[in-house]
Amino acid sequence: MPVKRRPRARTAGGRRILVVHGPNLNLIGTREPAVYGGETLSSIERRLRKLAVELHVGLESFQSNSEGALVDRIQRARDTVDGILINPGAYTHTSIALRDALLAVDLPTVEVHLSNVHRREEFRHRSLIAPVAAGQILGFGGDSYLLGLRALVGEIERRTAAR
Ligand code: DQA
Repeated sequence: MPVKRRPRARTAGGRRILVVHGPNLNLIGTREPAVYGGETLSSIERRLRKLAVELHVGLESFQSNSEGALVDRIQRARDTVDGILINPGAYTHTSIALRDALLAVDLPTVEVHLSNVHRREEFRHRSLIAPVAAGQILGFGGDSYLLGLRALVGEIERRTAAR
């Protein structure tokens, strides 16, 4: 039997997006600056919030170094947000649990990365998340998140119009 969804909570007239940051992303700004640049997570968050106002969407964000906490947060998003913007960090390459959580909540999802993982070690070339995401944006530092937010909002609008 199909499972009924509760209507999602919305901001006044806007959609809600959950931004998820995986392990070690709390350290960007000081962590391997040659790879990830000098921008901190709070600066990226500030820029995202500014863009969210422009796009008329509400943002909530969550960072954790723990796979289970990330799975719990994604599960809780099921009936409360309209889409997920996620940088799964190293779990991109390893986590079937994160991928299954995204499949379970069945929300439009965009995967982002600061670095261009395809120019790095081979073990970073495979993403377990990409096949369950609408798309991926990578290699543009903090701008990957901003481009990802724009892409996600467009994807949500397209899916809503197609219903
Ligand atoms: C990353 C790329 C991952 O391979 C790495 O483990 C990270 C950051 C990025 O944003 O470039 O932690 O997701």
